[in-house]
Amino acid sequence: MLLELAQSKKILFFGGKGGVGKTTVSSATAIAHANSGAKVLLVSTDPAHNLGHLFDRTIGSKPVRITAGLDALELDPAETVNVHLKEISESLHELMPVTLHSEIDKHIALSRNAPGMHEAALLERIADVIEEGKDEYDLIVFDTAPSGHTARLMVLPEMMSAWTEGLIKRKEKADRFAEFVRELGQDTSMEDKTIGGATMAEQERESKIRRILLRRRRKFEHLREHISDPEQASFVIVLAAERLPVLETIELYEQLQQANITVECLVVNKRAPANSGEFLHERHTQEEIHLQTLEQALPDIKRQDIFLQSQDVVGISAVESLAQIL
Ligand SMILES: Nc1ncnc2c1ncn2[C@@H]1O[C@H](COP(=O)(O)OP(=O)(O)OP(=O)(O)O)[C@@H](O)[C@H]1O
Ligand SMILES: [Mg+2]
Repeated sequence: MLLELAQSKKILFFGGKGGVGKTTVSSATAIAHANSGAKVLLVSTDPAHNLGHLFDRTIGSKPVRITAGLDALELDPAETVNVHLKEISESLHELMPVTLHSEIDKHIALSRNAPGMHEAALLERIADVIEEGKDEYDLIVFDTAPSGHTARLMVLPEMMSAWTEGLIKRKEKADRFAEFVRELGQDTSMEDKTIGGATMAEQERESKIRRILLRRRRKFEHLREHISDPEQASFVIVLAAERLPVLETIELYEQLQQANITVECLVVNKRAPANSGEFLHERHTQEEIHLQTLEQALPDIKRQDIFLQSQDVVGISAVESLAQIL
């Protein structure tokens, strides 16, 4: 079922609690699709990057070839935050009077570790990866960090475009006020250098700031369009068949619904086999009870169960064999 989903979409996100198998299952799906002849890009958005560990090689912020048809990259949050803050800092310096510059620098330094900063920066990189990769690749698969983080990330495009919109409006208001003040005390000797109350240099600077803000807003709007379009994108929740993970999955599903993100598939990973001894059989029965809760809460969402393998899934050949059973 995961393979069918991969064949019908351009973008897939894999999310869920820590350790449930997001990296394993997203990689297996990416390989399965690549093996069927598609060109796939696998992207880790998790700061703890485990694609490199899984494939036992260094993977950086530029795509590297994993196997025929499959490239992978790991988004570097620190690098992304630096680029992001530098741009914000530069545009704020241009936007605000010189007397406020040291205040801005202080604020930017504090922002580096502010909640949401890494997510916002990552979101911008996700938008870039989709923009840059959507023509080259048939499918882009995102292996994301544990649930809370992912859900926040998914609603961010809306928040971010509202934020830039607010900034633009505030700027326009401030401009009108400045113009009014200028007109009150108009000095006729200055008149020849001004156009509509602002000097040409001011106007040029303003349009540059506006361009930066509008570009960022457009980026988030595009991302929003892509990820909320059910024809193009879908979110896969990976979970374990246990009580809390099931309840958290239902909650995550609702958060994603509110953010207009389609969830078409749930993957219940590491299921205990039914007939491999009494202990595992009992575990299997217990799991069925938890899965009934899931079924009742989300009756229309397809489910794929993947059994617990006797070995950890490490290395490309282990992922390849898991890909065979999707
Ligand atoms: N079906 C399976 N059978 C056996 N082991 C599995 C299975 N799926 C995943 N694993 C193992 O479980 C561990 C966690 O898997 P994985 O790294 O894919 O989880 P994750 O959700 O990406 O974790 P994190 O939240 O830390 O990113 C790994 O050691 C992996 O090999
Ligand atoms: Mg992982």
